[in-house]
Amino acid sequence: MSKTHPSHDAPQGKRLGLLAQFAGPEELVAAAEKATDAGYQRVEAFSPFPVLGIDEALKNPRTILPYVVLMLGLSGMCIALLMQCYMNGMEFPGAPWGLSGYDFLISGKPSFSIPAFIPVTFEVIILLSAFGAFFGMILLNGLPKLSNPLFRSERFAAATDDGFFLFVEASDPKFAEAETEAFLSSLGGSGIEGIDEPVTGHAVPGFLYLVGAAVATLALLPPMYLWATSGTTSTVPRISFFKDMENQPKVKPQTTFALFKDGRGMRVAVPGTVARGGLKDDAKLYFGYEPEDGFVGGPRRIEAMLASYSVQPVADGPDADGADSATPPAADQPKEENWVTEFPVKVTKELMERGQQRFNIHCAVCHGLDGGGMGLVTKRALELEQGTWTQPTSVHAESVVEQPVGKLFNTISNGVRKMPGYKEHIAVEDRWAIVLYLRAIQRSQLATADDLPKDKLIELSNLN
Ligand code: HEC
Repeated sequence: MSKTHPSHDAPQGKRLGLLAQFAGPEELVAAAEKATDAGYQRVEAFSPFPVLGIDEALKNPRTILPYVVLMLGLSGMCIALLMQCYMNGMEFPGAPWGLSGYDFLISGKPSFSIPAFIPVTFEVIILLSAFGAFFGMILLNGLPKLSNPLFRSERFAAATDDGFFLFVEASDPKFAEAETEAFLSSLGGSGIEGIDEPVTGHAVPGFLYLVGAAVATLALLPPMYLWATSGTTSTVPRISFFKDMENQPKVKPQTTFALFKDGRGMRVAVPGTVARGGLKDDAKLYFGYEPEDGFVGGPRRIEAMLASYSVQPVADGPDADGADSATPPAADQPKEENWVTEFPVKVTKELMERGQQRFNIHCAVCHGLDGGGMGLVTKRALELEQGTWTQPTSVHAESVVEQPVGKLFNTISNGVRKMPGYKEHIAVEDRWAIVLYLRAIQRSQLATADDLPKDKLIELSNLN
């Protein structure tokens, strides 16, 4: 048995185990199998590449890593749910030390709501599971380790090249120096070698610990100083490392700003501001009526509105409302004869189909698919007999049939009496499409014999 430790002749510590080299992978697997069969439990194999069957031969117990990951994942779930419950879900009035959570009401939704908590919960589960897998693997493998005692065997360097080794640990209950050595050589092991715990005798000098502690403490001082001074009420300007980041030349909306006469940082839009795409310069198309003098869409309309608002110069006092070019001022409601009677969009089959589809989505709930006024909502409301429901007007009523298209358009846009307006939901083109479809279903109820094609008429008269 060779006991050469050529790297140094320092005194050796406790015996850690016996290392034996084998000729090839098959020999290694066979030896490992025999060793574990013989009752050795703490046997480790080393090879330059993964050897098929070695895991089974070594009879290594399964790793507990999956359970570690599972436990951390479950903890992640609990932490995330509790955290969100505390932050969004529940208030505990009278909780000590201000430890009450916060009952966060958003759009009347339940504040403790599992569906809303799922994304965060999922993320935390993944985070902790990944930590568990990563750090668990490292710790279970006994890492990090600066050096492995096996590296001091010169032969062992071949383990990354062409050497196949079996190492029986001295902590194995069956380990007995002489017998184990004999057993390993009976398995065909060569160069059997005892591996000892290294005893270097070179301890870190004590004063270095002191120096290290002092440096670490001193290193904490600058950040602590910055932290302490960043929130002080001192009149001396605070210290900042990144001056242009902490003090950016910008206007904060809720603070004063000396540039303007009224001292406000937040400005209302300049009167007459038109949002991009908000220039409604075709009154017929956007409002459904022929403009009168003094009231037009587009720039002239805005001028007229500004005049009627008598806007004050900004610096002298509160500003007038921002002009909303979408809603005509109430005084500007058109006269009856100004309603548009012709469609301002091109009437096509596609428009009609679009109109039908939009009507069935937006209007049929109340007015019914035939426009007669018995939509599902209406039926249900009548069933409930609450007495507060206004029955939708039938679109076949004479008062509606007689209306010019512009007026119908206006009803859809701004509503009428009890019916709400739908201009926020339905685009301009689609509103015209619905008007077109309204015209079609009105026609369907008022059709006369003249509306039928000739051949159909003949067919009908033959029936009688
Ligand atoms: C929430 C239910 C509801 C919806 C949705 C609804 N309406 Fe109405 N509509 C009404 C009611 C109610 C009236 C009668 C209002 C009144 O007399 O106070 C009415 C009246 C009308 C009138 C008659 C207006 C007049 O001058 O008498 C028309 C035309 C009309 N609706 C068209 C539509 C169109 C087109 C849509 C789809 C864009 C629509 N409605 C969507 C409830 C609804």
